[in-house]
Amino acid sequence: MDRSAIEAVKARVSIAEVVRRYVDLKPVSGRWMGACPFHQETKPSMSVNDEEGFFYCFGCQASGDVIDFYGRINGLDFREALEQLAAEAGIELGNVAPDPQAAERKARKNLLMTMHDEASEWFRRNLRMAAGETARRYLSKRGMTPDVIEKFGLGYSPDDWHGLLNHLNSRGRTPDLGVEAGLLSKNDKGNIYDRFRGRLIFPIQNLSGRVIAFGGRIITEGEPKYLNSSDTPIYKKGDHLYGLHLARTTMTRSKRALLTEGYMDVISLHQFGYTDACGVLGTALTSDQVKRLAGFCSRVDLVFDGDNAGRKAALKSSRMILLQGVACRAVLLPDGEDVDSLLQTRGRDGFEACLADAPSGLDFCLETLRAQFAPREIMDWAKSFMAELADPSLRAYYLPRIAGGLGLSEADFRRDAGVAPARYAGQGQQGRGPARNVPQGQGRGAQPRPRNLTACGKEDKDDQYFLRFPIQYPDYVPELARRGFGQILGTQWARDIWEKLKHAQQGHVMSLLNEEEKRFYIRCREEMRENVLSGSELLDEWEHICNKIAFGQQKQDRQQLKEALREAQISGDSRRIDECFRALEESLRRDDEQH
Ligand code: UTP
Ligand code: MN
Repeated sequence: MDRSAIEAVKARVSIAEVVRRYVDLKPVSGRWMGACPFHQETKPSMSVNDEEGFFYCFGCQASGDVIDFYGRINGLDFREALEQLAAEAGIELGNVAPDPQAAERKARKNLLMTMHDEASEWFRRNLRMAAGETARRYLSKRGMTPDVIEKFGLGYSPDDWHGLLNHLNSRGRTPDLGVEAGLLSKNDKGNIYDRFRGRLIFPIQNLSGRVIAFGGRIITEGEPKYLNSSDTPIYKKGDHLYGLHLARTTMTRSKRALLTEGYMDVISLHQFGYTDACGVLGTALTSDQVKRLAGFCSRVDLVFDGDNAGRKAALKSSRMILLQGVACRAVLLPDGEDVDSLLQTRGRDGFEACLADAPSGLDFCLETLRAQFAPREIMDWAKSFMAELADPSLRAYYLPRIAGGLGLSEADFRRDAGVAPARYAGQGQQGRGPARNVPQGQGRGAQPRPRNLTACGKEDKDDQYFLRFPIQYPDYVPELARRGFGQILGTQWARDIWEKLKHAQQGHVMSLLNEEEKRFYIRCREEMRENVLSGSELLDEWEHICNKIAFGQQKQDRQQLKEALREAQISGDSRRIDECFRALEESLRRDDEQH
């Protein structure tokens, strides 16, 4: 990764400006505060520091720089977030990934998206024209308002084998290109024709609102009921969620996502004011989709039909969400209803009643397991759940809850699930330092609450205390380095941070730190704003640390003297023994004077 490009993005893009696109920020004593979009919060718990370019939430400890924030809230990985912000700021990332084909692929994708725009416009026009009469009647019969039809860009594909083909042709797009875009189909004989015929058309949009695929519902007789675009370079089934680009603003505010299974369900929910709704489209919920959602909200309310198939699907989806450490609830509808029919017949009240009754995802899973599964299946489910957890630190959270829910003793379940107790908070095998066994690289998306550093051992606490000083007063780093500050740090994680502080250019430490270190760093910087030391306090602090270093130095010297003394005793060198004794006594006397 090209550090200079990262630094350039951070220098050019104001974090406050980016955060303000999603969160209402208010100035509070020299920085910005707002409600954290990464956990359930209405109070302003998130601080945004524009000067230093980071954000920090006092509630959930989410933190990072502008790239972290942008990636997390948009469900992008670091690379994607960097690219988008760099593009915004007009920064070349050319030397990051020298890929001669990348530009070509990008141009190709752009062309495919443009063709989707052209198709989408054509579908919409058809819905308004004479050919769209049946479709318009169908929509009004289903209670769809013109507003929501417009908002979701619904259209109609006439019952014609060459309508779209001809339209694309008029725009200079070859039939083969139409096939590549997934808009046209090709049969065995090589004939090319419209994929969507006589269908109500639902455009599927990416997070930027670009149309990347279509779904089409039959409105007369015919099979299949719904037809979706095939996978193309711009669309992969299971990657996207229907309506997410419309729902995400509300989600970041409500901190909730309503997740349903159908096109019509999503549209109805929006029509009835549930604008944090989106849908999985005819596939099982994937972990990528969950991560995407987790960037916007902290809880997913799954809405499913109350029949057996619905329960089964809800069990699978809840499991997928819980595995990622995201909270969820299972909203089951009365038998025979789906969200759309429920809203159309009983309105918001009918749906609110179902929401109010919804159990948490975990309770729902355990309840369903107990009611419908054999003991063997239940244990298999529970064990594989523990084994598949995205983040091992979540095991500590789920273990007692699952054991309790299944009526098992915690110890028995822990043994059966093959979870060693040593993995739990604060007493990991390595034993020192914060969260060493939390794997890196999955910090984006919703994460479990980061381990509380203050819950660690004395050595950790001391090191946190000492490290705070060079983090808060970086001007002192060179002098501390000269005096051998590193010696007083007892833990490896603290020494690692210290090395980075020593070697970073002023103001550029953040990009050297890993997630865990960043969190600690940012917390220290934040604490400094809360509690600015006066001149004399700062001096006291400085002296205390210098004494500590000197004391550490003496201790080390004495250790060496003791060893030299022992060696001298072994070899019987009486003059050397004498020398060592004297030096040792001198050192101890100095020590007494100091204390
Ligand atoms: P449903 O059969 O429950 O349809 O499929 P629906 O959404 O309630 O639609 P209406 O109310 O009858 O119009 C749920 C979802 O499963 C996918 C679609 O995404 C659909 O919205 N599906 C269903 C398909 O992809 N293909 C199908 O043939 C059927
Ligand atoms: Mn339906």
